Amino acid sequence: MRRTQVAIVGAGPAGLLLGQLLYKEGIETILLERRSAEYVSGRIRAGVLEPGTVNVLERAGVASRLHAEGLLHEGVEIGFRGRRHRINLKALTGKSVTVYGQTEVTRDLMDARAAAGAPSVYEAEDVALHDIAGPSPRVTYRHRGVGHEVACDFVAGCDGFHGISRRSIPAAALSVYERVYPFGWLGVLADFPPPWEELIYANSEHGFALASMRSPTRVRCYLQCSLEDRIGQWSDERFWTEFGRRLGSEIGARVPSTPIAPSIEKSIAPLRSFVAEPLRFGRLFLAGDAAHIVPPTGAKGLNLAVSDVFYLSEALRNFYREPPGDRAESALDAYSARALRRIWHAERFSWWMTRQLHRFPGDAFDERLQHAELEHLFESRAAQASMAENYVGLAL
Ligand code: FAD
Ligand code: DHB
Repeated sequence: MRRTQVAIVGAGPAGLLLGQLLYKEGIETILLERRSAEYVSGRIRAGVLEPGTVNVLERAGVASRLHAEGLLHEGVEIGFRGRRHRINLKALTGKSVTVYGQTEVTRDLMDARAAAGAPSVYEAEDVALHDIAGPSPRVTYRHRGVGHEVACDFVAGCDGFHGISRRSIPAAALSVYERVYPFGWLGVLADFPPPWEELIYANSEHGFALASMRSPTRVRCYLQCSLEDRIGQWSDERFWTEFGRRLGSEIGARVPSTPIAPSIEKSIAPLRSFVAEPLRFGRLFLAGDAAHIVPPTGAKGLNLAVSDVFYLSEALRNFYREPPGDRAESALDAYSARALRRIWHAERFSWWMTRQLHRFPGDAFDERLQHAELEHLFESRAAQASMAENYVGLAL
């Protein structure tokens, strides 16, 4: 049987970053991931980093490519009734956000882990947690047909919403809060120079649309779609025609038509708000999507994963800093409440952004409220400051 200090389940941004932060503190980890490294690094997901996230990536020593290639954005735009309204993040908060894809963050972290020589097992099957309620937890898994067992002090459950960590906690020990939304997001990645300077979140009568980017030559765009929609129903041509209709003729006319750069990736994701509390059960800690989900409007998912593991790495560092006989669990006990405070603020903001920008079926009263709220946002500097403060990330 192998031994380590912290067994990390899941090599998404949460697991990889936790491994790197703990490595910097001299704390040993093993990383167990169900998928292949190629699959994990190719997954197209988030794209906007808060300045606090960039700080944590700097501390982890993985920010040099981010600083060289990331795009600094000082504002975002909201499209409504044919007009675009700019929220000047920099003027309102003194801060900017960085556009840098989750694929790139993942690659930088994987490279750093390989350079550190820290052990990672990709394609680990049947990962299972044992004895997490007591002082000597174990993790078992199979790799290339062979069974393995790791004894550890702690398990970090960083295995996303569908992982096994949260499900290893007895139901009676968890409280779950959830909201599902009656639509999804259809995302497209395509290679052409973004014909917009900053992100545009558009509330249109045909539904929500988002114009984003990944680099000076690559766009990432989303449309609100029906939960019944299938990718096969959305040809590139249909996507870009609908995108132009929702963003307005000025932007629509700037999307290259013939030949439209073929999309590199196309996917549909449902929207959900979800929090499981607390984030600790015995020797198991939950972090990132394993513990919570936000709807993507507002770009908080990846940023929350980073703040969770930053708090968790501090708690573990404080624990291991003391000599073995004197180790107190107070820092570990405080992790859940500290992370949850930030999580709930991000849940609120993502829910608010989702409510203000999408078409919800069938409630005319709510629609009038939504329009009044957007008008207030465009007219009130105080309302813009509140949005900007949340968008760049609250200092909690
Ligand atoms: P994940 O990235 O989900 O990583 C969890 C890892 O655990 C995965 O690699 C998984 O393979 C592994 N795993 C799962 N089960 C097991 C197991 N049993 N054993 C071992 N390993 C396991 N956020 C935004 O801000 N903007 C976006 O546009 C956006 N788009 C998204 C699109 C999709 C389709 C999804 C699913 C999420 C999106 N998000 C977005 C959210 C953001 O990507 C996540 O919040 C972020 O990836 C969370 O990181 P994580 O490491 O906690 O979880
Ligand atoms: C992106 C995704 C988001 O959810 C968001 O709010 C902004 C940008 C993106 O993938 O680029």
